[in-house]
Amino acid sequence: MKPIREQIKDKPWLGWAIFLVTIVAVFLLGLLASSVMERRAEAVFAYTPKVQHEPTEPRNEVWGQNFPKEYQSYMKTKDTTFASKYNGAAMIDMLEVDPRLVVLWAGYGFAKDYNQGRGHMYAVEDIHNTLRTGAPSDEKKSPMPNTCWTCKSPDVPRLMAEMGPAEFYKGTWEQKGPEVMNAIGCADCHDSKTMNLKITRPALVEAFERMGKDINEASHQEMRSLVCAQCHVEYYFDKKSHPGSPYLTFPWDKGMSVEAMEEYYDEIEFSDWTHKLSRAPMLKAQHPGYEVYLTGVHAKRGVSCADCHMPYKSEGGVKFTDHHIQSPLNNVANSCQVCHREETASLVQDVYERQDRIIENRDKLEELIVRMHVEAKTAWDLGATEEQMKGILTDIRHAQWRWDYAAASHGGSFHSPVETGRVISTGITVAQEGRIKLARLLADLGHNEEVPYPDIATKAKAQEFIGLPVEKLQSEKNEFLKNVLPQWKEEGKKREAGYTVSMK
Ligand code: HEC
Ligand code: HEC
Ligand code: HEC
Ligand code: HEC
Repeated sequence: MKPIREQIKDKPWLGWAIFLVTIVAVFLLGLLASSVMERRAEAVFAYTPKVQHEPTEPRNEVWGQNFPKEYQSYMKTKDTTFASKYNGAAMIDMLEVDPRLVVLWAGYGFAKDYNQGRGHMYAVEDIHNTLRTGAPSDEKKSPMPNTCWTCKSPDVPRLMAEMGPAEFYKGTWEQKGPEVMNAIGCADCHDSKTMNLKITRPALVEAFERMGKDINEASHQEMRSLVCAQCHVEYYFDKKSHPGSPYLTFPWDKGMSVEAMEEYYDEIEFSDWTHKLSRAPMLKAQHPGYEVYLTGVHAKRGVSCADCHMPYKSEGGVKFTDHHIQSPLNNVANSCQVCHREETASLVQDVYERQDRIIENRDKLEELIVRMHVEAKTAWDLGATEEQMKGILTDIRHAQWRWDYAAASHGGSFHSPVETGRVISTGITVAQEGRIKLARLLADLGHNEEVPYPDIATKAKAQEFIGLPVEKLQSEKNEFLKNVLPQWKEEGKKREAGYTVSMK
């Protein structure tokens, strides 16, 4: 080939063509560079504080001005449209889905109403609405203590900073009503100065201390689960350690397994309530989600809650943590497929298969425990003595504790299917042993036939069976929502208007 200089001499238009192509290329390169710079500027912009607020600022929208991407994605926890086979973002009336629960919780608040959780942004609204918190008014108190607010709001760390945790827990639920306004948020998990993850709930720190561990030594990856373990855990209200204050405590001193916590509760003779039918001293498992997760293969391989429920996301060239905390099945590409190469449908199927298998036996265990409560009631009615009932009531307590530990560890049948299955089968064993004792006792008392299974086909029928005046409770609640709640909100707004927020 001839040198380019000579080619241009032969065909002068070629020179112009090269010149034009070069200009276009330079122009495009310039555009690209400027777009990259702009994105960079955006990234820096997103992390340059625009406002300065107090460290205890509870309002997500104030923090959100400094971190719009995290804030906007967090606000998506308001979206209730996604539904998976058993879970999802919508509220599900679990007593309607499974009326056996009404009988299992007879005599306790959960028999009044129990919904499967929604997104974090509903935490305060849902605790206002549930029948469990009652309908406090000028004349009447709530049946629940202030401790119930603990896992609902970033107003909690603010109040604890003002008065200390023991004082915060004191008194009944309505007393802190006007103080707790904001749904779970930034100040629950972050330090406002550094934005590092932070444990804001003393119960978790204290549980670690009693186990001889220092939570400040947790690794960054562990912190990505421990922030969730502030709330998604088993707990109880200790009425002895701080007189006058139902002190939030995690029962982990002997370990986190279903047996270790059972032994802990038995030793201190703790019970949440006395069952209305069987009179057994019952335990209500809260939601040992973290404890069960720890026994699963993902935890063993160092996968954190945030890896699946808060995966990274890219927008406009900026990588950030997606704060839309939800079922990972609504986001398989960013959560599971970061590590697994399988198709979405196959990963979802993996989850459903584990859930189906666990639920099959969980439902059998529920039926056995319903039978135990009804049979125990029959025995009492026939004149059984405390002495005769003692061992049976312990079996009922233990069987139901095991069922609840498995059922209430939300996500447990995927987080750790083997452990969840094991816990349910130990529950079935305990229930069977208890029912043999019951059959013998009933025969001794002259009742030698099957105690009929109650007609509890719907929530309404089950609530009628245990004698719960739901309509009255609901109309009182409506009064509360209409008359008392607006006053709380007004008081809250006034207080918040006084917080210092300055532009940077
Ligand atoms: C301050 C307490 C608190 C902390 C911290 C917390 N949660 Fe929650 N979480 C809740 C409560 C309360 C609900 C139920 C809200 C409702 O139903 O109104 C909930 C609901 C959920 C749900 C169900 C949402 C849905 O759409 O079905 C998931 C999933 C969840 N949390 C995961 C997490 C993860 C992961 C973390 C840690 C990164 C975490 N949570 C930290 C209290 C907390
Ligand atoms: C339930 C706990 C939780 C809540 C509530 C929460 N975050 Fe986060 N946040 C996390 C976790 C976990 C990470 C990942 C941190 C890491 O790995 O270092 C994170 C990371 C961040 C980061 C670091 C940059 C990034 O995107 O990774 C910022 C900024 C942030 N969050 C802002 C917020 C803001 C603003 C809010 C309130 C609207 C908020 N967070 C609410 C748990 C939470
Ligand atoms: C950060 C990486 C990571 C993420 C994210 C992740 N996994 Fe895994 N997964 C693993 C590892 C590691 C194992 C263990 C496999 C091994 O060690 O051979 C595992 C094991 C499994 C198993 C087999 C274990 C069992 O319980 O039977 C299933 C099923 C599974 N993952 C599904 C999922 C699904 C569904 C998601 C999304 C919701 C997901 N994984 C998210 C890393 C991950
Ligand atoms: C390997 C991925 C993975 C890890 C790690 C993980 N989860 Fe999950 N989680 C899931 C999947 C999958 C489901 C089932 C979702 C469904 O059925 O829609 C689930 C369900 C849940 C639910 C019930 C959600 C609902 O819609 O009601 C909660 C709450 C939850 N997880 C919290 C946590 C917490 C807290 C941790 C850490 C202690 C954690 N998860 C760790 C994948 C994970």
